[in-house]
Amino acid sequence: MGRTTLLLISVVLVAYYVYTPLPGDIEEPWKLVLEITPQNVFVDMASTAELLGINHLMSTIQLFSRFLEVPATSDENVTVIDTAFSSVPVRIYMPKRKSEMLRRGLFYIHGGGWCLGSAATSIYDLLARKTADRLDAIVVSTDYGLAPKYHFPRQFEDVYNALRWFLQEDVLERYGVDPRRVGVAGDSAGGNLAAAVTQQLIQDPDVKTKLKVQALVYPALQALDINLPSYQEGSYFPMLSPSFMARFWSEYFTTDRTLEKAMLLKQHVPLESIHLFQFVNWSSLLPERYKKGHIYKIPTPGSSELSKKYPGFLDVKACPLLANDNTLSLLPLTYIITCQYDVLRDDGLMYVTRLQNVGVHVTHHHIEDGFHGAFTLHDFKIAHRMQNQYLNWLMKNL
Ligand SMILES: *[C@@H]1O[C@H](CO)[C@@H](O)[C@H](O)[C@H]1NC(C)=O
Ligand SMILES: *[C@@H]1O[C@H](CO)[C@@H](O)[C@H](O)[C@H]1NC(C)=O
Repeated sequence: MGRTTLLLISVVLVAYYVYTPLPGDIEEPWKLVLEITPQNVFVDMASTAELLGINHLMSTIQLFSRFLEVPATSDENVTVIDTAFSSVPVRIYMPKRKSEMLRRGLFYIHGGGWCLGSAATSIYDLLARKTADRLDAIVVSTDYGLAPKYHFPRQFEDVYNALRWFLQEDVLERYGVDPRRVGVAGDSAGGNLAAAVTQQLIQDPDVKTKLKVQALVYPALQALDINLPSYQEGSYFPMLSPSFMARFWSEYFTTDRTLEKAMLLKQHVPLESIHLFQFVNWSSLLPERYKKGHIYKIPTPGSSELSKKYPGFLDVKACPLLANDNTLSLLPLTYIITCQYDVLRDDGLMYVTRLQNVGVHVTHHHIEDGFHGAFTLHDFKIAHRMQNQYLNWLMKNL
């Protein structure tokens, strides 16, 4: 009897986790189910540990993520070293082949919701290695302080300081980088930081080197409206759920879960900041096809208590979509990838519209069968497709 019950419970649990309803046109669906099922089980266990008061959810995931890291190891084509730029740890990838000319330089910022990941995570190590080899570029892959230990603006400042260090004339010269061919790139939270530091840099009179390009892979760009059509449709998207994204956003600013609760109720923006919604107004900024079936509602203001305690979530350095048109018009050549099945889809789409509206040259690749995280699933066909598009664009434009 006991054994039968146990068996039954196991079957139900396995069925529950494996039954991940995926959008119909996703490529290699079973391979994806096998990839995400252990992750979902692990996150549920870590969430249970948090509910029991054992450990912070993100700290538990960080602990186990260490096993996904690899040391800095050179291969036949690329020399890899760990060092620090302005006290921020970075990993540098340098092509071994001889070059008559100065090289391209790419400053890369990893994703992970401002809480997870590092330059040493194997998926990011592989991506940077491929990039250095294919583009014959010096790739600097940066770390930054992570929540829950560090909150905004620490992540932003670490990345900004490391980037400014790299952009110094003598540093570029030491690595053989052409100061006219330096770009910034990042995915997800790294795309957020890439967009934010690029905006900051164009307004920084102390930095002589200008960025040639920014490349943003499914970036998170605003924390004001987390009820966009892509969030509303997002319950069945693989990899990143709307509620997990709200958790990431609120962890960026504080460990206090009242911000997350207010975000989920869409009542975190106070009356005096309600005008900021014009910058993230999906009713005017999304192309028609993404608005279908959704009705734009004027957001309800919340109390100003939260924004007084945690002003970061209304700061342009955390939410690059809040920049005014003047700032945006100064941005360099831009590449943006958005994915259909991604809660962050509409952030990217709105940034494309806003940049195009002020005359910035934007190349936008929308991946119809794409989902969050697909860019770094190196064993999947979709990752090859996305990385090839991205690398080809950099090859032509950086
Ligand atoms: C090094 O480059 C060669 C030639 O492009 C390639 O065939 C080989 O796979 C590369 N090695 C690694 C480890 O990427
Ligand atoms: C959003 O745009 C619509 C028109 O597209 C407009 O009616 C509405 O007032 C705007 N809302 C805000 C908060 O800017």
